[in-house]
Amino acid sequence: MKRLMRLRSSQHLRDLCAETEFNRAQLIQPFFVVEGLAQEEPIPGLRGNVRHNVPSILRQIEKDLEDGVTHFLLFPVPSEKKESGFSHQSTQETISQIRKQFGKSLCLWIDTCLCSYTTHGHCAVLDEHGIKIEKTLDELAKSAVAFAEAGADGISPSDMMDGRVARIRAALDENGFNLVPVMSYSTKFASNFYGPFRNAADSAPQFGDRRHYQLDVRNRSDALASSVRCAEEGADLLMVKPGLTSLDLIRPIQERTGLQVGAYQVSGEYAGMSLLAEQGLIKFEEALVETWHVFKRAGAQYIITYGARYAKQLGIGR
Ligand code: PBG
Repeated sequence: MKRLMRLRSSQHLRDLCAETEFNRAQLIQPFFVVEGLAQEEPIPGLRGNVRHNVPSILRQIEKDLEDGVTHFLLFPVPSEKKESGFSHQSTQETISQIRKQFGKSLCLWIDTCLCSYTTHGHCAVLDEHGIKIEKTLDELAKSAVAFAEAGADGISPSDMMDGRVARIRAALDENGFNLVPVMSYSTKFASNFYGPFRNAADSAPQFGDRRHYQLDVRNRSDALASSVRCAEEGADLLMVKPGLTSLDLIRPIQERTGLQVGAYQVSGEYAGMSLLAEQGLIKFEEALVETWHVFKRAGAQYIITYGARYAKQLGIGR
């Protein structure tokens, strides 16, 4: 008699039949560096993650490297908010300090967006009529070049302005960074699950929301088109975000573009598990690995997760 349960009956059999495997090299650990921060600050809901200043992030990275993390994603949080004409000096300083101390033992991606920089907290330069797209693209391209000059390994635009990947690619190439890859937040929905992040990055919009530029969760065709557009503009890697609410799109995007697609397990997804665990309702570590396997099963090549630094202790191999 056919019994599907037979192959689930021991750990050895389950491991023999396991279809999804991944390693720590495919996990990316985000971190926040806040300019001028006097001391580390906790981030509500984000277990194991704090807001850093430069000395504290250098200590954290040292520890993370020991814990087998190799990919990091920096979110720079400047102290001064402006309308436009943003300065990247302090972020360049952060990047070069990290580079100086750790060399090429890590791969350092930099999130490229304006929402932590603008007075209004939107991801674009605005005027009284709304988004100034060309000005925004100029600012994004300028920041990407500044980050690459300081030693970034990769640029990760998260702003969702049409045309930004092309503009960033062209600016990097013109400045001699033609081998610096762009990992684009290519299918990024307007979402409630970014809440904890916006506290950490001090980037909540001061009016309105991000529906003018982030995707509508009801639209599959626009979600696919957005990644296709990023691929056409020259993105090297694509991404869906939030991860758990975009699982259905990962394979179709991969098949349509031929590019690898990652999943961002965003702050609200991660905090959901942290808070459930605080209430004694789930086992945090097991839940975390469970979700990572689901991303892999859905076709994700890499995963951005606030829990990457736990992977080694959870038995995830190299
Ligand atoms: C910046 C940006 C956001 C996230 C990554 N880059 C917030 C947003 O779009 O509002 C969210 C990440 C997270 O929630 O973990 N645009």
